[in-house]
Amino acid sequence: MTDNTEPTTGPESPDAPLHRRGIKSYVIRAGRMTQAQTRGLEEVWPRLGLTLADGRQDLDALFGRRAPRVLEVGFGMGQSLIEQAQTHPDTDFIGIEVHAPGVGKLLDEADKRGLTNLRVYREDALAVLEQCIPESRLDTLQLFFPDPWPKKKHHKRRILQPAFVELIRTRLNIGGTLHMATDWEAYAEWMADVMENAPGYTNTATAETAPYVPRPAFRPLTKFEARGEKLGHGVWDLIYRRDS
Ligand SMILES: C[S@@+](CC[C@H](N)C(=O)[O-])C[C@H]1O[C@@H](n2cnc3c(N)ncnc32)[C@H](O)[C@@H]1O
Repeated sequence: MTDNTEPTTGPESPDAPLHRRGIKSYVIRAGRMTQAQTRGLEEVWPRLGLTLADGRQDLDALFGRRAPRVLEVGFGMGQSLIEQAQTHPDTDFIGIEVHAPGVGKLLDEADKRGLTNLRVYREDALAVLEQCIPESRLDTLQLFFPDPWPKKKHHKRRILQPAFVELIRTRLNIGGTLHMATDWEAYAEWMADVMENAPGYTNTATAETAPYVPRPAFRPLTKFEARGEKLGHGVWDLIYRRDS
């Protein structure tokens, strides 16, 4: 992540989701693609890739069944998503990521492991949620280690904003959960602050650990998190349930 691109502001109100305000929560990094990643993007994409142009999805038709559904925003290189999709064949997973090598890697792995319960967008997650995911259709939305945008002048680029969590709320089923994790303490506090002020959610943490929950064993360790652990970083998990 670099910080040399200044956000531009659009005509939309400050309460609108970031992509409507011309602000991006990511920087597209140039990166060389490995052979496997290229193969994923070229050969596996037609089967598992989705675009905004596909429009609003009928998720039952997309997966050919009705199963619990998990959507992950910003899966990076996709290790955690692949592992979860493989471990939970009875759950359907949708991943959204803008970083092409990560999308290619996920597709390549999904194909090598013969996974049929996974679909992928290479798009801005906010646009996908708004335009492609119908209301009240997700059981879990995962946001693991989002870019912390540590400088104050860049806080507006943090993906977790009131408008984003309200958009997520409408896509979750009642009782569905928003699961976040970060290794940046100030971002963990920001997340808790945004969520405590977000209508329609309840924190699932117990009084002993609130607002955080102990690291759930079902969240696989990502490369990013493993690197943080080696550097002695803490990790904070937050799980909120849609109640209304
Ligand atoms: C710090 S990385 C963490 C990746 C992964 N979750 C992990 O734990 O290793 C954050 C990722 O979010 C992606 N991202 C940020 N904003 C996004 C958006 N609006 N739509 C899709 N992906 C986004 C970035 O491209 C980046 O790969």
